[in-house]
Amino acid sequence: MSAAHPSPSTPLVSPVRYMPTLEHPAPDEAQVTAEISQTMDKIQEKTFADSKHALRCVHAKSHGLLIGELTIRDNLPPEFAQGLFSKAAKYKVVMRLSTTPGDILEDSISTPRGLAVKVIGVPGERVAGSADDATQDFVLIDSPVFQCPDLKGFLNSLNLLEPTTDRMKSMKKLTSAVARGAEAVVEAVGGKSAALTSLGGHPETHILGETFYSATPILYGDYVAKIGVIPVSPNLTELTDKRLTNNGEPNMLRNLVVDFFLQNAASWEIRVQLCTNPETMPIEDASVQWPEAESPYITVGRIDVARQDAWHIERIDAIDERLSFSPWHALAAHRPLGAINRARKPAYAASASFRAEHNHLTIAEPKTLADLHGG
Ligand code: HEM
Repeated sequence: MSAAHPSPSTPLVSPVRYMPTLEHPAPDEAQVTAEISQTMDKIQEKTFADSKHALRCVHAKSHGLLIGELTIRDNLPPEFAQGLFSKAAKYKVVMRLSTTPGDILEDSISTPRGLAVKVIGVPGERVAGSADDATQDFVLIDSPVFQCPDLKGFLNSLNLLEPTTDRMKSMKKLTSAVARGAEAVVEAVGGKSAALTSLGGHPETHILGETFYSATPILYGDYVAKIGVIPVSPNLTELTDKRLTNNGEPNMLRNLVVDFFLQNAASWEIRVQLCTNPETMPIEDASVQWPEAESPYITVGRIDVARQDAWHIERIDAIDERLSFSPWHALAAHRPLGAINRARKPAYAASASFRAEHNHLTIAEPKTLADLHGG
């Protein structure tokens, strides 16, 4: 999957101004949100009971931890020069590559991928709950849409997945190969099934070739946007859709990432898709893909990562263990929007608290890169 490539001739879009009426919570939102948090808590309790180490309740497995630099583009058109992107600047970033399950599975079980990006040292007014922070996180998956239209749908699929945590690794392994075959058929007829991919039906591709999306919208200054992080250096783009064969290596993806960054530097672009029509680009339903023909993804910044060791003990401690990535570590100008994002606020905080408490460590937002000891 790749976002449209912007060019100087790309016509400027007419974005819709954010208005509170674009968001309309369902009457039972608080109740369903609480149930989601409870189910996630069960997953975390289960993996903790097994391993005696607290893991993230989803996206537990890391496939590489990177430190890089974000350069915000100069002279962006006014509708794109908003919030973090309002003027040219450089920031340090920390990135974590992951896969979705809450348990640490062998990579022969091929599941959807995540990329979390933490931009450090960001000035400006903050969202509620993040007042003292100086970070802007982008928490992304390798699909332009979220698997479920609403919170109830998400709760249902979470309730189906929760009993498969830990105890049924062998079941997931078995279904993975079968699901990959079935997914290929679904994709061939133009679809993508959330259930199959999360049970191991994700194609076995190189994680560094993936394009990552917010899938859910955020406030973009005066407007509303979805965010994409797209591989652009040729050494990454040649990995896009590259099929892998897993010969039983449990940490194949991480090994590939580590080997790559010992030899290579690489770059991604951050692109923004502005909402130009709330009918075709809904705020509350994250399962709808906003049509790129109506509003293309436009480049607003570039992330450069130099050669480095993407997986060593000090870095694991500083980033995997002592950081949490959350869309709610945000500037007020980039407040997460819509039902899925509202439900994420308590869930990410609870998951991080559980990890801090059970692993006896402090999880805190860095003010500068130097705060990440050993990064
Ligand atoms: C209601 C919907 C969702 C809930 C309740 C939820 C909840 C969570 C929680 C609790 C964590 C673990 C946080 C931690 O321990 O630090 C997490 C991690 C993550 N989530 Fe979500 N999530 C939701 C939707 C999404 C969406 C829409 C995306 C992306 C488009 C996403 C991408 C990720 C990623 C990439 C991580 C790993 C972050 C890291 O590397 O630390 N999630 N999620």
